[in-house]
Amino acid sequence: MVGPNGVGKTNLLEALHVGAQGFSPRTRAEPRLVRFGERAARVQLEGTERGSPVETEVTLAPGEGKRLRLNGAALGSAEELRSRLAALVFVPDRLAVVKGGPVVRRAYLDRMLGRVFPSQAALPAEYGRALAQRGEALRRVRADLSTRAAVEPWTERVAELGASLDAARAQLVALLAPGFAVHADALGVSAATFAYEERGLRREDLETRLDRDLERGTTGLGPHLRDVEVRVDDRDLRGFGSQGEQRTAVLALLLAEAAVLAERRGAPPLLLLDDVFSELDAGRRRALLEALPAGGQTLVSATSADALPADAREPALVVTVRRAGDASVAEVA
Ligand SMILES: Nc1ncnc2c1ncn2[C@@H]1O[C@H](COP(=O)(O)OP(=O)(O)OP(=O)(O)O)[C@@H](O)[C@H]1O
Ligand SMILES: [Mg+2]
Repeated sequence: MVGPNGVGKTNLLEALHVGAQGFSPRTRAEPRLVRFGERAARVQLEGTERGSPVETEVTLAPGEGKRLRLNGAALGSAEELRSRLAALVFVPDRLAVVKGGPVVRRAYLDRMLGRVFPSQAALPAEYGRALAQRGEALRRVRADLSTRAAVEPWTERVAELGASLDAARAQLVALLAPGFAVHADALGVSAATFAYEERGLRREDLETRLDRDLERGTTGLGPHLRDVEVRVDDRDLRGFGSQGEQRTAVLALLLAEAAVLAERRGAPPLLLLDDVFSELDAGRRRALLEALPAGGQTLVSATSADALPADAREPALVVTVRRAGDASVAEVA
């Protein structure tokens, strides 16, 4: 997908993501997705998924909520759409997955968890709810409104869900780590590692620190405080990576997840790559194109078709985006 700055390439990729997954990869503020001056937005997509035709329709009407349809049938939530269709996106803000704080990485890890192990998709939120309930119970004891015994059931629940979440994350990272290293290497960053050590969450350990937790009014131990490591040799890319290395790490992670999803689902996910070429040299651009999963569909945006290395495989389709008045028009060249 090509076009000069500001014509609407990112808008189009974002719309494809909304249509395929039911939410924007850029913002949680859905009213911002509606065209200025309008009251609602609708994205309709037609395509094929694992060989069968598929149609989606997502309508955003701020104030009235979101309506989603898949092959004509109404869906209850974006999660349902995500569980049926897979799309992975790279937008420049995604660099935050490596360079941002642990909160961003944990959130990304937990979303990957839902995509790769759909049966565990609800686990992070369930753990979050149990933590919130335990926090509430702790603060009630602190305010003399309740007894320490009232915290116990929540301690048990937090330990149980926390241990499951920690194990699921470790399993996910172990599944992605080899592909991550291979893709990072192909993109020019060798000896990169992606690691998460399982530590579990024992009820006894939570009980041992109950006094401290009571004092602070929150649970001070568990996967909600853990981080995933991203390194090159012994250098931590989170704090010490160059912009290019961080970008490579995010792309390598995306490619590793795409390969795992392709294997587990039987077809690669739709890949939406916004502005991926901008900071990569020609060799790395070529390596990225070669690493795209076979048999899938990938949309790559760039300001000009020259961004493709001269000897790269011809794209199946070149979409040109241009401005027409206050609208954007995308045409197959
Ligand atoms: N809700 C909205 N309604 C109307 N126009 C909007 C809305 N949100 C963003 N825009 C406009 O869309 C245009 C930019 O689109 P977009 O970010 O998709 O461009 P782009 O082609 O990706 O550019 P670049 O190459 O610089 O990344 C901007 O001019 C922006 O002001
Ligand atoms: Mg853009």
